[in-house]
Amino acid sequence: MSAGAELPAPVPALFPPRAERERLDDLLTRALAAAGERVARGPVMPDLDMVQFRAELARFDFEAPQDLQRLIGWTTTQLEHGAVHMGNSRYFGLFNPAANFPSQCADRISGAFNPQLASSGSSPAPVEIEAHVVRAIARRAGLPAESAGHFTTAGSEANYTALLCALTRAAPGFASEGVRTFAGPVAMYTSRECQPAWFKIAHQAGIGRDALKLIATNSRGEMDADALAQAVERDLKAGVVPVLISATAGTTGGGMIDPLARCAQIARTHGLWYHVDAAWGGAALCSPRLRGALAGIELADSLTIDAHKWFATTMGCGMFVTRYPAMLSETFRVATDFMPSTVSALDPYLNSAQWSRRFMGLRLFLSLAAAGWEGYATHVERAVEVIDLIKARLLAAGWSARNDSQLAVLCVVPPNGFPGIREIVRRVLASGRAWVAATTFAGQEVVRICATHGEIVAADIDELVASLNAAR
Ligand SMILES: Cc1ncc(COP(=O)(O)O)c(C=O)c1O
Repeated sequence: MSAGAELPAPVPALFPPRAERERLDDLLTRALAAAGERVARGPVMPDLDMVQFRAELARFDFEAPQDLQRLIGWTTTQLEHGAVHMGNSRYFGLFNPAANFPSQCADRISGAFNPQLASSGSSPAPVEIEAHVVRAIARRAGLPAESAGHFTTAGSEANYTALLCALTRAAPGFASEGVRTFAGPVAMYTSRECQPAWFKIAHQAGIGRDALKLIATNSRGEMDADALAQAVERDLKAGVVPVLISATAGTTGGGMIDPLARCAQIARTHGLWYHVDAAWGGAALCSPRLRGALAGIELADSLTIDAHKWFATTMGCGMFVTRYPAMLSETFRVATDFMPSTVSALDPYLNSAQWSRRFMGLRLFLSLAAAGWEGYATHVERAVEVIDLIKARLLAAGWSARNDSQLAVLCVVPPNGFPGIREIVRRVLASGRAWVAATTFAGQEVVRICATHGEIVAADIDELVASLNAAR
């Protein structure tokens, strides 16, 4: 095309003029605020007619362009009625957060600028903001000053990163030859209360699911350190190659904390990488009152902490933190000539599994800066108080607690005369009054109640307890 030739105009549906963007932005802001209020008062469970929804969805053949205002209205309605509402304070569910407001602002800002965080050359300020937040978290956990890391899409990516670092450190040949470099089958150790994504991670990393050794837990649901030491020693004698111990600080089911210092010592004795999966429990570091529960976390070679759990940021905000940042560079090194910068100790694409990356860390930066450690201390302490209140109410009604967590999770079983756990949970969910989970903790089926939602009030506790008792 010659320099003088006229180009077609940019597609206005994709790049509308400023006045139109502002109009739609205002509309969207107001629509979302109104929907948020309805969600807070309405049912936790979806109430969408899925037959009608599928029929409407099928009509999107993308042949003729449609009006964006209408599309925004349609989409927000489907979201309002077509998903479990983590934003509803009767969601006593998994660790999915009711997203805090600063992190929602962060998503808007990063959506508008859309910086590419692969390299410091493209995004000098965003890359430094993320590194600053990760260092602050590392310091809070008591890791040495040289510790660093990066934001991940989720806890699973951070745990995967830990395994890759462990394998890379265990054998210099791993980077080139993969597991063939090891003299025997590889093993990693975690407790049987671990988050099950570890199976996928073992598969993904090429060591295979059988390489994941699930160590027995004691009656409290904490990893049995003696059993761990014996398993490692037994495997070593059998020619197996142990590479990683992962202790959990806040198990998914019962919120229990493995003996972190003992696990560290076993890892040191055998020269294994020591990881602490504090995906949700790590937020307790914010509280001077609760952080003692995580004693020993400072001995970790690496940590997983998800901001999109108890830190309540929007989704897609995990963190991997390590005392050996050079291992990240070794694990994720690559040579390029097209990237805007190649600073091996700094550029995220040279130190993490992702290449193109979103400005994920802005969510935690704005949240932490707005609330301070003190605000987060109140946030996590409040959640533990909520759980204590729920526990007292249910025990008084004849329920029994099965876990004894210092964090914000309660596992209970009903008094005699109640249906089974799955049926209780089905009835609570069907009532639309609250959301709880059925799970297995320490080998027994339990109703699991999590109070990490930051806006639970007394009336929500009343409603939860009433809906559980009504499930009889
Ligand atoms: C202890 C623990 N580790 C890891 C994960 C996985 O985190 P994500 O869902 O962010 O991948 C979870 C999820 O609940 C968890 O509780």
